[in-house]
Amino acid sequence: MNITFNRDNLKGFVDEAEFKALILEIQKAHEAIEKRNGPGAEFTGWVDLPGRIKDSFLADVTKLGREVRKNSDCLVSIGIGGSYLGIRATIEFLGTDRKFPVYYAGQNLSSDGLHDLLDDLKSKKVTVVVISKSGTTTEPAVAFRIIKKFMHKKYSAKELKKRIICVTDEKKGALRKIAEKEGYQTFIIPDDVGGRFSVLTPVGLVPLSIAGVDVKALIAGARLAQSEFSKMDLEKNIAYQYAAARYLLYKKGKAIEVLSSFYPNMFYVAEWWKQLFGESEGKNGQGIFPASLNLTADLHSMGQLMQDGVRNVFETFLIVDKPKYKLTIPSDKDNLDNFNCVAAKDLDFVNKQAYRATAMAHYEGGVSNMTITVSDISATTLGQLYYFFEKAVAISGYLLGVNPFDQPGVEAYKKKMFELLGRK
Ligand code: PA5
Repeated sequence: MNITFNRDNLKGFVDEAEFKALILEIQKAHEAIEKRNGPGAEFTGWVDLPGRIKDSFLADVTKLGREVRKNSDCLVSIGIGGSYLGIRATIEFLGTDRKFPVYYAGQNLSSDGLHDLLDDLKSKKVTVVVISKSGTTTEPAVAFRIIKKFMHKKYSAKELKKRIICVTDEKKGALRKIAEKEGYQTFIIPDDVGGRFSVLTPVGLVPLSIAGVDVKALIAGARLAQSEFSKMDLEKNIAYQYAAARYLLYKKGKAIEVLSSFYPNMFYVAEWWKQLFGESEGKNGQGIFPASLNLTADLHSMGQLMQDGVRNVFETFLIVDKPKYKLTIPSDKDNLDNFNCVAAKDLDFVNKQAYRATAMAHYEGGVSNMTITVSDISATTLGQLYYFFEKAVAISGYLLGVNPFDQPGVEAYKKKMFELLGRK
């Protein structure tokens, strides 16, 4: 596996006996997930999804990606929540082809943002992928209206059938109806996989192939994780250890989890993680509030609160063992800044020391912490990481006694907004 987990810095906060005492509860949650008979079982299609994806489908989307990149300068990916975050997390984590930019729309309602995007697209050959499981979500629906009009002005109806691709439900929703009426190419989102668990379905695979991501490697990683994290062995299953640690800390009043990373390319991985954990656990008056920090930048702002504020927080560090590039710090003959101590060292050496120092200082300041380390920046590793978190949140949700696969709360604002908009 390309992921390791360290919980040494829970010492004094959670002890080994407490982990052992939780084994029966974890076993129950494990069986409910594997046998698909717990709350929300109808949305557990993600559990064996990596193993079920056909290699022929991966070959088809890879080919589609190559074709689109040949006839386009860029991709516009329209979607929100589970139909957005995993795509952006993957692309930004891997840092794919800068000559083929991916733009995002439909994840807010800002007129200025969309206006600027349309301006940028004027001189480019554009392909649009619009993604919505329900096919009725306001933000992507409104953005698609505007972008569709722009595309209609730019291209013939025949050309648009190649340049607009819809990823949506097999039968339901307005997007399905629009795609059928206009003859756009479509891909189906499986019924039994909820939005926040859908990055490894066509939701992610279609735009990611177009962006040049090696989706075969992404799925290969997830397949490995599927087999590794389906073992009911708390000693070995690090997804279960992570879920158990979170639950035990929560029961001791640690109601906020901060995911801290030291790499800007992890920013959207943390955003994806926030949706996965927040939407899965935050219900029935329960749930750990998932927050994130971008270090070392946030050490110069939120560092004070983390070190010294209310002790209702625990921290999970997300570390990359080997970044993609090496960058040596030069020696300086004047040494006015007194940093010749790191001359000839790789910049990542300093980053790693910053992580070690932060973990120690926060632990001493009363913030228990754990570390998830991924070996490298690759699609295989990210596939493993996605599945690791998905399995962990399922266990964690069942430990809390909630249905981790529904999201009734997100409807509340929509109802009120539709009333205000006069939409039936
Ligand atoms: O997890 C969820 O279900 C939501 O966050 C959805 O992903 C988000 O609302 C987008 O929904 P849809 O794909 O139906 O447009």
